[in-house]
Amino acid sequence: MPAATELRGSHGKAAGPVLTKDFGTADLYKLAVYEKIGGYQAWRKALTTMQPAEVTGEVKASGLRGRGGAGFPTGTKWGFLPPPDGGPRYVVVNADESEPGTAKDRYLMENHPHQLVEGILIACYAIQAHHAWIYIRGEYDLQHDLVAAAIAEARTAGYLGEQPLGTEFPIDIHLYRGHGAYICGEETALLESLEGKRAQPRSRPPFPAVKGAWGRPTLLNNVETLSTLPWIISNGGAAYAKFGTEKSPGTRLFTVSGDVQRPGNYEMELGKPFSHLINDLAGGPFPGHSIKVWWPGGCSAPVLTGEMLETPSDMESLAAIGSMGGSGGVIVADDRRCVVRCAYRLLQFYAHESCGKCTPCRVGGNWAVRTYERVLAGEGTAADLATFDRIQTGLAAGRCLCGLGDSAGWVIQWTMERFRDEYEEHILRHTCSVEAAARA
Ligand SMILES: Cc1cc2nc3c(=O)[nH]c(=O)nc-3n(C[C@H](O)[C@H](O)[C@H](O)COP(=O)(O)O)c2cc1C
Repeated sequence: MPAATELRGSHGKAAGPVLTKDFGTADLYKLAVYEKIGGYQAWRKALTTMQPAEVTGEVKASGLRGRGGAGFPTGTKWGFLPPPDGGPRYVVVNADESEPGTAKDRYLMENHPHQLVEGILIACYAIQAHHAWIYIRGEYDLQHDLVAAAIAEARTAGYLGEQPLGTEFPIDIHLYRGHGAYICGEETALLESLEGKRAQPRSRPPFPAVKGAWGRPTLLNNVETLSTLPWIISNGGAAYAKFGTEKSPGTRLFTVSGDVQRPGNYEMELGKPFSHLINDLAGGPFPGHSIKVWWPGGCSAPVLTGEMLETPSDMESLAAIGSMGGSGGVIVADDRRCVVRCAYRLLQFYAHESCGKCTPCRVGGNWAVRTYERVLAGEGTAADLATFDRIQTGLAAGRCLCGLGDSAGWVIQWTMERFRDEYEEHILRHTCSVEAAARA
């Protein structure tokens, strides 16, 4: 039985301690319901009783780290913005959710849009921004409409607008439909897209905190990161830091997909082992099968093996075995899956989604796809092991302006490192015993 502190799947009623604590409440997306369970009290507390620096101080004390991918400490990021100079500054919400195997922001927006709106208002006040932009994945129609309705309700109720809660701190929140590419989720490409340009990453520095949307200081955070703020302001940063581990405090909403019996979204305290998430909460593998390979943070996080399921879910434990927490999308594949074919499928994705700006990513992705196609067709030659090595070295971390190229390289590097025998079987013997067994 999952503990009461964990959410049992997308359709379960048990709620996690922070983000999903109110899930199961009927019509949670409606303002009246949200207000009844204490909604917008954190916003009232921040705006009417705290200085902006105190709000940032609580977020720093919580130790919250960004849930979009890089896991950067949220309060520290807020501190990078220069002091207000009288000109505009923005909060930009990353609701693009484009990482494969990740559907937790969608789940939060769909079920609990006011929690997000409240978090955005708190962030606006902390960095003294009067405008926030939510860049929402273009395909998210329902979520768009629910968030738009929540903003409208909050405006009518006086939580935002010209005089939120009767104060002289005008705030407006705008929704912007994403342009339908993976790269649009990368923070600087997102800003380009928001400005109406082609989504391609910018070189950094300057970082968005200093020169972001329309060249102005911009705070960019993920939906889940911002949805955590009402809890932190209501209960205090120190209370949040009691969950999780010292360096990765709190809970996180994981999306579990692939070869598991109960795929879904689960809120789990960081530091608990992935075996708990995958086996206990998501139901484990199908009868007669075992978990062979899994990605702990979307397919952009280096791959892990079934023997590594006891790894604690905090970011440091993952880094220690060469992977990362990424987006929290846990993709599971069982013993029927050929790792070389999985890698091919992922490279197809990265090659297709490369924006083309950086040569290693533009050229390397397509070169990898062509090589995988040849190898999977049984036409590999002994030289192809070295070819894969050359491609992944060319894509080594840091050679491109954003992480897309890094991730494509990691797929080759880590699947070869951890499943070299499968590559050798394909390349040198032109067979795949895994797929042959699955077909038998
Ligand atoms: C190719 C690529 C795609 C990304 N897609 C997303 C995304 O869909 N959503 C997201 O929140 N972050 C995404 N990120 C991470 C963002 O660039 C950024 O780090 C994050 O939104 C910052 O918010 P946080 O500090 O709250 O995590 C992506 C990064 C890369 C390199």
